[in-house]
Amino acid sequence: MALIARSSSRRWGSLVAAALFALALAGPASPGSAAVDEGAAAGEALPELQTAPADATNADGLETLVSDYRTRVPTAYTTESWAPFAEALTTATDVVEDGSASESEVADAKTELQTAAAELEVLQSTFATITNNTFWRDTAGNPIYSQGGGVFKFGDTYYWYGVHYRGAESYLANPTQKYDNQVSFVSIPVYSSQDLVNWKFENRVATTSTSLGSLGGTMGNAGWIGRLGVAYNENTGKYVLPVQMWHPTQDHGVLFLQGNSPTGAFTFGAFQKQVVNSPTTGTGDQTVFTDEDGQDYLIFSNREGRSRAFVSKLRSSDSLYAEPAVEIGRNSSGREGNAMFKLDGTYHMCASDLHGWNTSVNYCLDSTQGRVQGDYTDYYTMPGTQMDYSHVTQTGFFITVEGTVRDTVIYAGDRWADFAWNGIGYNQWVPITKEGTGIRFHSMSQWQFNATTGEFRVAPGNNYILNPDIQADRIIVSNVVGWTRTGSGGVTNVNGGANGSRFALQVNNGSGVRQQMQVPAGTYTLGLYAKGSGRVTVTGADGTVHTLNVPSSSGWTKRELTGIALPAGTAAVTVTGGSGNLIADQFSLVRQGGGTDPGQATRYEGEGSGATCTGTIDTNHSGYSGTGFCNGDNTDSAFAEFTVQASAAGTATVRLRYANGGTTDRPGDLIVNGTRVETTPFASTGAWNTWTDRTVTVQLREGANTLRWDPTTAGGLPNIDYIDVAPAT
Ligand code: GCU
Ligand code: CA
Repeated sequence: MALIARSSSRRWGSLVAAALFALALAGPASPGSAAVDEGAAAGEALPELQTAPADATNADGLETLVSDYRTRVPTAYTTESWAPFAEALTTATDVVEDGSASESEVADAKTELQTAAAELEVLQSTFATITNNTFWRDTAGNPIYSQGGGVFKFGDTYYWYGVHYRGAESYLANPTQKYDNQVSFVSIPVYSSQDLVNWKFENRVATTSTSLGSLGGTMGNAGWIGRLGVAYNENTGKYVLPVQMWHPTQDHGVLFLQGNSPTGAFTFGAFQKQVVNSPTTGTGDQTVFTDEDGQDYLIFSNREGRSRAFVSKLRSSDSLYAEPAVEIGRNSSGREGNAMFKLDGTYHMCASDLHGWNTSVNYCLDSTQGRVQGDYTDYYTMPGTQMDYSHVTQTGFFITVEGTVRDTVIYAGDRWADFAWNGIGYNQWVPITKEGTGIRFHSMSQWQFNATTGEFRVAPGNNYILNPDIQADRIIVSNVVGWTRTGSGGVTNVNGGANGSRFALQVNNGSGVRQQMQVPAGTYTLGLYAKGSGRVTVTGADGTVHTLNVPSSSGWTKRELTGIALPAGTAAVTVTGGSGNLIADQFSLVRQGGGTDPGQATRYEGEGSGATCTGTIDTNHSGYSGTGFCNGDNTDSAFAEFTVQASAAGTATVRLRYANGGTTDRPGDLIVNGTRVETTPFASTGAWNTWTDRTVTVQLREGANTLRWDPTTAGGLPNIDYIDVAPAT
C-alpha cells in the first residue's frame, strides 16, 4: 500500500517533468501546438503520458516492473513457483522503497524479479488463435505497426518491438498497390502479451524526437532506422536495443538505445559503425538472439552483398557494443533477414534470398557442435518453406517458446508493401517444430497456439491450399510456386488479381495445375474467384472427385462448392482451363462447421438405414458421399425423410446436400417433427454431378426427430445425398 501511494506521487513528479519537457520541445506556439497545450492544461494529454512513463532512472524502471508484477495473483500459479516469485517481488519492493539503493542493487533486484517471474507456472492455459494474411490489431483495436523487430521475453511477459514506418499506414489504407520508398521512420512501438496472440500497446520507446546524444540531432534525422532487437543486460539492469541506422552525416552503423524498463522511453547509448571482421560498416540485416544462459548476440549479414553471416557477442558489461564477429556461413548470392533460434540444443540461423522484401524459402545453417559461435553446416532449405515461399514472406525473426509439453519455435515472417506489394508487416506467424534430426515449417493460414504448453493445432478457419493467392512469385512465371502443372498448355501468373491483389493464376484451355495437401476428415468448402471458364476439382483420399464447374464470366466472380466430404489423407485440388481460358485467384479449401473439432456434425446419408427415400438409391452421378444418393420419384408425393438423434433439446444446424440437373427449381417443404419449417427452393445446380448444399437452422427435441422434405411440385425432389446435423454454436 505504502509503495502504491508513494509510487503514484513519484510518477506524478516525472509526468510533470515530461510534460514540461514536451512543452519546451514544442517551441514557439503554432495554432496546432497551442491547441495541444490547452489540452494538456485541461489534463487531456495526461492519459497517454501515464501509459508512457519516462523511467528516467534505473530505480524508476524497477518501480514500473514492480507495479506490473503486483497485478499477478497467487491463485493463478502453482504454489511452488509462486513462493520464489513472491520473495523476489518483496525484495524488489524493498529496493524501490529504499531510495538509497545502489545501481547494482537495483539491477540485481530487476534480474531476480524477472527470473522468478519467468519461472511462474500458470495453472490454466488455453489455446489462442493466430490468423495470418490479415492486418493485426492490438487489444485496443489499433493496427500493430511493427516492422523489422522481434519478440523478447522478459520475466513472464513477451514484448514485441518493431518499427512503425509511414508506408505501413498507406498500405493499411489501400493495400492494392506498392509504396516504394515509404520507409520514413515514425517510431519504435512496444506491445506486451502473455499468450503471444493478444498484444497490448504499451508505449513508443523511441520516436523521431529521440536524441542521438553525442552524435547530435534526433532519430528523425536518420535516413534509415530498421532491423532491431532488445537484450536485457544483467550487469546494468538495462534493456538495450540495437538498431540499424543510416545517417546522412554519420554513415551506416548500429545505434544502441537503452531503457530502464521494457516499456519506458529508450535513450541514446552508443553508435558503432564497424563490427570487427565484417567487411563493411553497418550491418546487412540484423536481429538479436538471446541464448539460454542469458548471453545476447547480434546476428547479421554484411551490408554490401550480404554474402556472409555473422554472430557477434554483445559486450557483457553493458551490451552497448558488438564484439568482433564470428562468420558462420557464406553464400555468394547473399542472404538477408538473418535470424537465429535454438531448438533442442542446436542453433539454427535462417535467412532469405536477397531481393528486397520479396518472398523466399528459408535458407538455414545448423550448428554442428552445439556452440553458437562454433561450426555450422552449409545452407540448406528449411523443409516446409518451398510450397509457398515461407507463407509468402521473407525471414523476419523467431520466438522460441519453451512449453511444458513441447518446445515450439514461432517463425515471424515479413511482408512489406515496399517493392513486394504484399504488405501487412511481421504478422505472418507459423510454427516450426523439430522433425527427425531436422526442423519443419508448418505453413498455415490459421492455427491455435498454447503459449504455456507450447502445443499448436490447426484452427477451424485454416485454408488448406498453399499459395492460394498466387502471391509467392514476385515476377511472371510459368511454374507457379506450390502448384504442379498437369497439362501441356500454358500456365502463368498474370497481373491483376481478384479484389485488387497483385497476381492471379491463368490456365489456358486444356492445361492445368494441381496441388496436393494433407487434410483431416471433414466436410469442406472450395472457393475461388474466377474469370473465363474452366473446372476445379477436389479429389479425396478415397478417389472421389468433387467438381466445381466454372461457367464463363468476363469479370471476377466468386465460385464455391460446399459439402465436399473428404476422408483424412491426401487431397488434391486440380484447376483446368476451359475454352475461354481460366483466370483464377484466392483459392480456399476450408473445413465447414466451425469449432475446433471437425467431427462435431453427424452425417445421415440419404441411402442410410435411418432414412426413407421414396424412389431409388442411385450411384450413377459422381460426387456423392457414402454408397449412393436418394433419387426420388418425379411426383409431388415422393419424399425424403431422415431420423435424427439429439442428445439434448435445442437449436441445430442442418446442411442438406443435393444436385438438381434439371433446368427448373424442385421446391420441397421441410417438415421437422410434423411442423413445416421452410420451403427449400432446390434451384438447379446445372448438372446431376454438381452437388451443392442448403443450410437451415431447426429446433430439435431430445431423442429421435424426423426431418422430411415434401416436394411441392410434380417434378419431385432433386437427388439428395445426405444431411449433416450439428448443434448450433
Ligand atoms: C435423371 C437423372 C436422375 C434424376 C432424374 C430427375 O434421370 O439421371 O438422377 O433423379 O433425372 O429428373 O429426377
Ligand atoms: Ca429423380
